[in-house]
Amino acid sequence: MSLLLKWAAAKLEGIVPLPEDNIYALLELPPRPELGDAAFPCFTLARPLAKPPARIAAELAERLNGAGGEGIRAEAAGPYLNLFFEPACWGPKLMEAALDPAFGTSDRRAGERVVIDLSSPNIAKPFGVGHLRSTMIGSALARLYRASGYDVVTVNHIGDWGTQFGKLLEAYLRWGDEEALKRDPIRESLKLYVRFHEEAERDPQLEEEGRRRFWMLENGDPEALRLWRFFVTFSMEEFERVYARLGVTFDHTLGESFYNGKMDAVVRRLAELGLLEESDGAQVVRLDDKAMPPCLIVKSDGTTIYGLRDLATALYRRREMGADRLLYVVGAEQSLHFSQVFEVLRRMGEPWAEQCRHIAFGLMKLEGRKMSTRRGQVVYLDDVLDEAVRRAEAIIAEKNPSLRERRETAEAVGIGAVVFGDLKNGRMLEVDFSLDEALRFEGETGPYVQYAAARAYRLLDASGLAPESSFVPAAARHDGPSLTAPSAWDLLKALGAYPEAVAEAVRLNEPSVLARYLLDAAKRFNRFYHQERIMTSDAEETAAKLRLAAACAGVLESGLGMLGIRAPRQI
Ligand code: ARG
Repeated sequence: MSLLLKWAAAKLEGIVPLPEDNIYALLELPPRPELGDAAFPCFTLARPLAKPPARIAAELAERLNGAGGEGIRAEAAGPYLNLFFEPACWGPKLMEAALDPAFGTSDRRAGERVVIDLSSPNIAKPFGVGHLRSTMIGSALARLYRASGYDVVTVNHIGDWGTQFGKLLEAYLRWGDEEALKRDPIRESLKLYVRFHEEAERDPQLEEEGRRRFWMLENGDPEALRLWRFFVTFSMEEFERVYARLGVTFDHTLGESFYNGKMDAVVRRLAELGLLEESDGAQVVRLDDKAMPPCLIVKSDGTTIYGLRDLATALYRRREMGADRLLYVVGAEQSLHFSQVFEVLRRMGEPWAEQCRHIAFGLMKLEGRKMSTRRGQVVYLDDVLDEAVRRAEAIIAEKNPSLRERRETAEAVGIGAVVFGDLKNGRMLEVDFSLDEALRFEGETGPYVQYAAARAYRLLDASGLAPESSFVPAAARHDGPSLTAPSAWDLLKALGAYPEAVAEAVRLNEPSVLARYLLDAAKRFNRFYHQERIMTSDAEETAAKLRLAAACAGVLESGLGMLGIRAPRQI
């Protein structure tokens, strides 16, 4: 919650005839500073009080000011009741809250378990930039949910089963070269995959062979299984490298093949419930009344399919993992798939199907280029990260030639730029990612926020006041000199809204809400930094300003951390 609005609601409670929660929900941030720090619109009271909103605002202002303001002054402006907080009185309270290491976290949702499905790349295919979005949005949501008190379990649902493995094995047996595969496994298997699709266009029989090969795999053919395991092993090694670089871990990594023994029971239940129908030899659940195409459960040759595996997976997450809620962070192109799966669960009589959400996101292009694993025009994430780090290093070398940890800082800034460049966009937007754009220190970028945090840390270092020093929290409690400069008060108020940004990001499943908040806070910090002299001759004033810098550095670092981005102390 935004602290000032919370305090405003507490103040108005008893004066405005509404419960405090409703008052809080109605409160607004005024568009201009002359209009105060919080505004209460009186429209909703007009009917119950049978008075025009402007009269209500005027009467409320009078009552509030008459009751002894305690550092809050009220002013009516048309239908709005505007509240002005006295910085000298409220500044120290905001500061104390913002300096608390647990600021932004809450335990309101303790005991509620959320299972988050994220990343979930496919074996024998490159970890493309496309999977970056699921990994970063998903792990940011996991941290945000944890900060809100939820009991979070993350699962990487590796695509390691399905007809495509039949095709891959068939291609390998026809044209594969074991040595080449060992040397560069992902690129080599991608080549096989591309060749399979090219040749299948000329020779449709090939598709049939691929399907047969998958049938063999699913029915335990030892040679097929051996090859499949080989592909799984080297792909996982590749993925692990990427995750280490991104600093992402999972509570569970369970491939689709994990559910192999768990699908028969689902098919049986569907049959018992009379939900299965035959269609061209395949088993389907018809969803005509929901205006959806049938959900395919078992193919005509008896092999299993993605949808059935997801049904078994959801049931497992509910029964064995104890999920109260299930989130699936997967591209928007799979919307129909998830609507179908959730609808089938509902028909199976699983009421928690209402707690399943597809957290969809739009496509990502790279510098205008599309990505397609089929045609082999893949943009490799590793290459993108390398390039980002290289460019970050060049910028840092110019900005701060004497920086000792240049390499490590460049890694944090370069990767942070890519991650932030992704997360700052509303997740449904299609992103055309530009590295140049993402790395601009003066743009709406990760480096911009990181640089503001580093600037605040530099102030603290220069003053000999480390943010972790016990002086900082102790001094915040002391009603020191007020921070009355407009830019300082403005920054403090923004810091007070950090918990609200976290809560809103969770409510909307939108890490971009937090990314935007951080840009705004960093911008306010920079304004404060440029407009105010921090190191003054007045020791008390200097200490108050340094505390503000410490609080700001703490919030920026904590917020970046939730997005999966490091905040180097020096850049
Ligand atoms: N492996 C799939 C893909 O990359 C995504 C899996 C998403 N998770 C799920 N439970 N279906 O397309």
